Amino acid sequence: MIVKTSEQQAHMRRASRIVAAVLAKLKNNIRPGISTRELDRMAEEEIIALGGCPAFKGYQGYPHTLCVSVNEEVVHGFPNRRRLKEGDIVSIDMGAIFQGLYGDAALTVGVGVISPAAARLMRVTKESLWKGIEMARAGNHLGDVSHAVQQHAESFGYSVVRDFVGHGIGEALHEPPQVPNFGEKGEGPLLVPGMAIAIEPMINEGGYGVKILSNKWTVVTVDKSLSAHFEHTVLLTEGDPEVLTLQEGELG
Ligand code: MF3
Ligand code: CO
Repeated sequence: MIVKTSEQQAHMRRASRIVAAVLAKLKNNIRPGISTRELDRMAEEEIIALGGCPAFKGYQGYPHTLCVSVNEEVVHGFPNRRRLKEGDIVSIDMGAIFQGLYGDAALTVGVGVISPAAARLMRVTKESLWKGIEMARAGNHLGDVSHAVQQHAESFGYSVVRDFVGHGIGEALHEPPQVPNFGEKGEGPLLVPGMAIAIEPMINEGGYGVKILSNKWTVVTVDKSLSAHFEHTVLLTEGDPEVLTLQEGELG
C-alpha cells in the first residue's frame, strides 16, 4: 500500500485530467461508421497535445493507446478497422502519464440507439463503480469497496468478472493492492489517506466466465453476453474520496 506525496498527487491529478478530457472527446466522436482505429489515433494525438504520454502503449507489449471493447468483449479489445454500428456498446479504456505518474479510466457508451437491456447494463455498471467509490474512505477496508460494487451489480441479476480486477496506481499503472469487484465487508487492507486506487467493475449480462482471444489480450464473455466497464482513478483523503478522472459535468 503506497501513500502518495503531495507532489505525486499533483502529477496524478494532471495525468487523470488528461484522461478525463480525452475520454470526453472520444465519447463525443462515437457514432455509427467510425472505426475503432480512428478513435485510437485521436486519443494518442490528444493525450500528447495535452502534455501527457499514452500509458498503455508498450505496457507489457500492449500495442495501442486505447483498449476498445465492443459488445461481448470485456476489456483489452484492440483498435482496428472495425467500424462501430448502431446498437453496439463500446467500452473505452485509457491511461495517461504525466511526469511519471499515472491516471486510468474507462467508460462504456452506446452507439446511436441501443436496446433498453444494453442501456440498463451500462447504467448499473456505472452505478456499481460509484457504490464502490463511496466506500473508498480512510478507515474502511478494501473489501468494503469490493463488496459494494458486487452487491449492486448482482442485485440486478448481473455477474461480476472475477479474472480481472482494479488496482493501486501511481508511479506504475498497476501497483498493489489488487482491487477486486467482489469481496466481503471488513476484509482486505485498511484504507488510508494518500492511497490511490483504480476501481473498475467489469459487469456481464450473463455468466462471469471470460476467455482470452488468440491475440493474447482481448477478453470476451464465454457465453457471448454483453459486458460493460467503467473505471475511475480515486485518491483517498481524510474525507470524501477525490475522483481524479471525473468527467466535466459528471456528478461526484
Ligand atoms: N485499465 C486497464 C487495466 O488497468 C487497462 C490496461 S491495458 C494495458 O488493466 F494494456 F495497459 F495492459
Ligand atoms: Co485500470
